[in-house]
Amino acid sequence: MTADEIRGHIDPIRHEYGDGKSLILPALKFAQTEKGHLTREDLEAVAEATGYSPAYVESVASFYDRIYLRPTGERVVSVCVTLSCMLRGADELFEHLCDHEGVSHHGGTSEDGAITIQEAQCLGYCDRAPCVQVDAEETQGPLSPADGAALLDQLRSSPRPERLWR
Ligand code: FES
Repeated sequence: MTADEIRGHIDPIRHEYGDGKSLILPALKFAQTEKGHLTREDLEAVAEATGYSPAYVESVASFYDRIYLRPTGERVVSVCVTLSCMLRGADELFEHLCDHEGVSHHGGTSEDGAITIQEAQCLGYCDRAPCVQVDAEETQGPLSPADGAALLDQLRSSPRPERLWR
């Protein structure tokens, strides 16, 4: 993504941020909507658009687990593994989804590049445990392992979103 495209996104919201540094995060999130992750060129474009150094921008990017510095699947499925979800079967759900996508029980990306499965900490949906979040969409739960597998099948057969908000 280019610095001009990123400026086009952050300029209209600049007034909402008291400090220019605070714009780095929305700029990074927007920049990764194109490919679902950020390349070196994207980080440099964010640096140019925000006026901070590429090293500083990368330090921000590397802090957040929803900013991806390596390629992910087209859709990222985050499975909450914090206490409430764990007590209601999150481990079983997570492992079932990993098996469904043929990735290790630490998570990963399916061979066809369609789906990334990853662990997440509390998604604020404890009363609907166990739950998952797809990209930055609404959290869903409670999900049985079969429900989760059906969700993955549905995602795989759905058109790729125009922008990959994570
Ligand atoms: S513990 Fe899973 S949503 Fe809170």
